[in-house]
Amino acid sequence: MRFVACCALLALASTGSLSGQSPGPGAAAPGIPADLIEFSTPDDNPPSPEKIALGEKLFNDKRLSADGSTACATCHDPEKGFTDRLQTSRGIRDQVGQRNAPTVLNAMFFETQFLDGRAPSLEEQSKLPILNPIEMGMKEPDEVVAKLAEIPEYRDEFQRVFGRPVNYDDMARAIASFERTITSGEAPIDRFLRGDENALTEAQKRGWSLFNGKARCMSCHAFNPSYPLFSDGRFHNIGVAANKQNFEDLALRAIAAVNSNDLEEIDRMAIETEFSELGRFLVTKKRLDIGAFKTNHLREIAMTAPYMHDGSLATLWDVMDHYNKGGIPNPFLDGGITRLGLTEEEIDDLVALMEAFTSDRFAQAAADEMARQKRVAEKQRPERETEVAMGREQHRGDAIPDHGEKDPAQIGGRPLENQD
Ligand code: HEC
Ligand code: HEC
Repeated sequence: MRFVACCALLALASTGSLSGQSPGPGAAAPGIPADLIEFSTPDDNPPSPEKIALGEKLFNDKRLSADGSTACATCHDPEKGFTDRLQTSRGIRDQVGQRNAPTVLNAMFFETQFLDGRAPSLEEQSKLPILNPIEMGMKEPDEVVAKLAEIPEYRDEFQRVFGRPVNYDDMARAIASFERTITSGEAPIDRFLRGDENALTEAQKRGWSLFNGKARCMSCHAFNPSYPLFSDGRFHNIGVAANKQNFEDLALRAIAAVNSNDLEEIDRMAIETEFSELGRFLVTKKRLDIGAFKTNHLREIAMTAPYMHDGSLATLWDVMDHYNKGGIPNPFLDGGITRLGLTEEEIDDLVALMEAFTSDRFAQAAADEMARQKRVAEKQRPERETEVAMGREQHRGDAIPDHGEKDPAQIGGRPLENQD
């Protein structure tokens, strides 16, 4: 079954039957391993061109929202790298949620969906925004089904694709099948890794060394040829906006407020309430998951500003400044986050590298966006704390409070000469 699923998609890719764009809807992006696509396609929802076309229609259809104003594509706009470019998303009646919309590009390769991983699959994920009061605001699955069944086109297409009348699960299957065509691979970084020395600029090559070494990005934004996504798919507290909250107090109140594992209830807490900041904790209720979010993959990262679960970092320079100072200290900060001691040139090199994760489809738009971000960053770098990053000022998060100018690699272990 898996084999069939994979080859249905690959056949579509080679004929490009659904779209003239490449890689667009209906075409698996070049550079994504075929067995990864196969592995990420569930046996019980094999794709077909008709199912994908139906899913695309549903993804773009504002009638799936209570007031006809909002489709999936409103917040995951293909032109904007399948995001909305807002700090946090805006749903029906201009209501604003708590979280930044991640891209749908390559979402199919994550083992869990949402920034806290609360949904186990794309199918389960797609059922939630439609019912979320802030996002699309439909009251219940039956209301959605009744609305779709009134539309002759959908009545016919559901019958043709699934051989039965419109129902909520099949709607989710169609949307998920479409999403499994929204992929992105083959960027300059891939050509470089295959041996093309000219694929990256000198700054980007220096950025790649930093990414793997001094800047420690690779420890979470992991890359390997069979999973070339630049994400470990795990959850970490990297100290984003931790200063907004007293996490302990928030967690205690969250425990009192949520005692079920009901997905819709967790969804509302994540999108509508201050508990949103607790991240993975809302799903697992484990203390160690407080403030932990899923490591975003970094493909097309130049397209998806603003950054982080709350959209609090406006530019990639802000992202580097954030990591450079070791994030915002809090009791649940991941052990992998510590001051980095990056110079301004090294920060520029890392930002340059981020553009090398852009596929041809978005190359021009990403170049424009990087130019825009550069102008913003020249005026303001609100996250920059050079003294802390360089270890000249005591870093609140360091394992050893006064390590002076030592190599960040020494943090957490005493240098040999100081040992008794
Ligand atoms: C009002 C804006 C909005 C609408 C409408 C919306 N989304 Fe989202 N989407 C978001 C936000 C915000 C998140 C992150 C929420 C979170 O993690 O808690 C998200 C997360 C996702 C993810 C998870 C990606 C990942 O990396 O884990 C997928 C997939 C997705 N949306 C698909 C859809 C689909 C399909 C629809 C339509 C049925 C839809 N979205 C409707 C804003 C929206
Ligand atoms: C300890 C694990 C870890 C390390 C180390 C790490 N990251 Fe991240 N990264 C994450 C997590 C987790 C998120 C999402 C956090 C959130 O939303 O609160 C993230 C988010 C990002 C984002 C924003 C993605 C988006 O779409 O909003 C960028 C860009 C990024 N990281 C780049 C880097 C770079 C560059 C480095 C090295 C300087 C790095 N990361 C080091 C775990 C890590």
